[in-house]
Amino acid sequence: MPDRYALVTGSNRGLGLEFTRQLLHRGDHVFATCRQPDAADALHTLAQRYPERVHLVPLDVADETSIEEAFRVVELETDALHLLLNNAGINGGGRADRFGGLDPDRMARVFRVNAIGPALVAQRATDLLAAAEASERLPTVVNVTSALGSIEQTRSASAWQSYRASKAALNMLTRCMAFDLESRGVLAVAVTPGWVQTDMGGAGATLTPEESVRNVLAVLDDLSLADRGTFLSWEGQTVPW
Ligand SMILES: NC(=O)c1ccc[n+]([C@@H]2O[C@H](COP(=O)([O-])OP(=O)(O)OC[C@H]3O[C@@H](n4cnc5c(N)ncnc54)[C@H](OP(=O)(O)O)[C@@H]3O)[C@@H](O)[C@H]2O)c1
Repeated sequence: MPDRYALVTGSNRGLGLEFTRQLLHRGDHVFATCRQPDAADALHTLAQRYPERVHLVPLDVADETSIEEAFRVVELETDALHLLLNNAGINGGGRADRFGGLDPDRMARVFRVNAIGPALVAQRATDLLAAAEASERLPTVVNVTSALGSIEQTRSASAWQSYRASKAALNMLTRCMAFDLESRGVLAVAVTPGWVQTDMGGAGATLTPEESVRNVLAVLDDLSLADRGTFLSWEGQTVPW
């Protein structure tokens, strides 16, 4: 089977680390990107296990220069990318992030990381993704979103408001980029991983990273062009916008 290349943002911990681990286990090459690769001990352990297929690349999705520099490194290794997992995200204050206590700087930061960053990363990755069009696997942008970003499912006032709004923005950007990428033969979807036991999800979450990522990757395996611009759950169900 020809080599397949994936790029994961925020790969040093949580879901990003688990995506990286499972993609490597499947045989993919992975550009495991994160803000501080030197401090990413778990990634270094994976790199020792899969030295040929792990490429550790610095990438801060909130920094345009960092995005450009990361893709210059990627382009030295491959001329085609099959999967972009826009996974990096921040919660923006959690329970404190509610109406009455909204903080403009914090809100801007959450939008920068959760919505603007993924859009800019996908935009920069477009030529590499389009170059994988003829491969067996449909080149795909996966924007890791959240059910908390579903406007329709928000039925009471709540915390996590910047986070919710940033994921709703990411959902719209996913929908838009899905149409923009169609002519290049590239799919774009928004996928929620469920409630997962990570630093963000907390210990009380219902899913382990292993379960969530295994399910999400199975959903991705079944995608076709008909799924362009959809909002899917980790179980493959359509989530209301
Ligand atoms: N866990 C859940 O229950 C849950 C539910 C729904 C959606 N999600 C989404 O799933 C994704 C992963 O979440 P998680 O639970 O794995 O969170 P996490 O454990 O808090 O990990 C977040 C990751 O994002 C990275 N990151 C933050 N800011 C970044 C930036 N500016 N540039 C690059 N990387 C950055 C972090 O890197 P550093 O170590 O450098 O900070 C870390 O690798 C997020 O998009 C999140 O919104 C999670």
